[in-house]
Amino acid sequence: MSSSINENTDDRLSMLPEEVVALILSLMPTKFAVRSSILSKSWRHRWMLVTNLDFDDIHKVHGFDVLSKFVDRVLEFCQTPHVKLFRLKFSDRYYWYRMSSVSSWIDKAVRLNVQELDIHVILAQLPASLFTCKTLTKLSIDCEIRNGRVWRCLCSVNLPCLKTLDIAVFDKPHENAFKLIRGCPVLESLFLTVTWLADEENYIFIIPTLKRMKLTILYCKSPFTNKVVLNVPNLEYLFVGGVLCSYFLTEDVSSLVGASFSFTHVRCDSMWVDILKGTNGVKSLSAQIGPIVYYEIPIDSALPSFPNMTYLELKGFRDWRLIISEFLESSPELKHLCINKADMSKTDIESLWVEPKLVPACLLTNLTTIKFSKCEGRKCDVQSMKYMLGNAEVLKTVTIIWRSLRFKEERRLSTQLLNVPRASRHCEINFIGKYSPYQNPLVK
Ligand SMILES: *[C@@H]1O[C@H](CO)[C@@H](O)[C@H](O)[C@H]1NC(C)=O
Ligand SMILES: *[C@@H]1O[C@H](CO)[C@@H](O)[C@H](O)[C@H]1NC(C)=O
Repeated sequence: MSSSINENTDDRLSMLPEEVVALILSLMPTKFAVRSSILSKSWRHRWMLVTNLDFDDIHKVHGFDVLSKFVDRVLEFCQTPHVKLFRLKFSDRYYWYRMSSVSSWIDKAVRLNVQELDIHVILAQLPASLFTCKTLTKLSIDCEIRNGRVWRCLCSVNLPCLKTLDIAVFDKPHENAFKLIRGCPVLESLFLTVTWLADEENYIFIIPTLKRMKLTILYCKSPFTNKVVLNVPNLEYLFVGGVLCSYFLTEDVSSLVGASFSFTHVRCDSMWVDILKGTNGVKSLSAQIGPIVYYEIPIDSALPSFPNMTYLELKGFRDWRLIISEFLESSPELKHLCINKADMSKTDIESLWVEPKLVPACLLTNLTTIKFSKCEGRKCDVQSMKYMLGNAEVLKTVTIIWRSLRFKEERRLSTQLLNVPRASRHCEINFIGKYSPYQNPLVK
């Protein structure tokens, strides 16, 4: 019985066109695709047309030598004219493997006209052929701190089809990262993790085709005064994270729609204001400052205005004056506000509530939703919420997510906020917590 089912399935599968079989086999790790060769005689060579070569050591392997021979054999027999994806993902326990094999595999993939390379292994070097691969559209190399000088190539770089570049460079960014970037004339997405060392030159990104950029700075050698220059007229989305240790000169970011900043450390407060000034045309902004930054925005360096901003998310902030008197005041078109306050201990001094002299314009005409996460119900939190409920004239939805409050406390605060007079007749308040979800309709 079971054998006849197997035969039937085998038959039906065998009848599928070769390309379809290759497509199906390409969806699984190469190890399993190759196993199909034992199904029957007619299957022996079918795997050789797979378009994806996907190797990892997540599935059981018997040491690096076996794995290595397997990759060698697959590359030797593979007959597909175009490898769509070549992926290597080996865990650290193989850190001792012969790094030259990895380089020669990548070289073979290049010869098989690879389009996407996704490498998660520790590398010693990359083959020179990679730097002039005509078919490559996506290059992603994640090889952690030990990548040493892997990018150093004496050859010139020419990657005419490369649209996505995702790399980490820990050494000489000018020689390594920027040389590579300059050789990619159609680059659209750049994900770059770097350490800035003591270079004298500025870091200049002139990339006319770029649409998305994510820059993570892991470490800066001090003292550091280099500028990061952005001349990216088609950039729509920018993320900068890690350590903020340089000024950003935005020569052209005229297409920017969204910016997101997440800093664990800011070397100098004016840098933080400076990067906001350079990107103030965005529609959406998300800003996070990590726990090691004890100051937020110095009162004397005012924020720029954000004339087009409709969405604002602030994470890890403590000071309501900054949120209301600086950010809201600077964002006349703001519709959606999300606040995620910093984790504070009981002994942290709470910020004082100071009523703004003028009601920010967005409260009068545009602000429709407020989401407040990790609300501890501190005095200043309640005062600020009262202020916004009492002044925001077109507010529709307020969501408050309580952060580990006692049941009674949560109920008391929820009731208190529900009884605050609201400037908007159509405002509903939702609470999420132990006592809630509890919703108060428009009419009490
Ligand atoms: C705001 O948007 C308008 C229209 O899209 C645009 O012309 C203007 O340059 C933007 N403002 C800034 C500061 O980018
Ligand atoms: C903000 O409100 C003003 C006045 O009602 C309106 O003209 C404008 O279009 C609103 N902005 C947005 C982004 O909805």
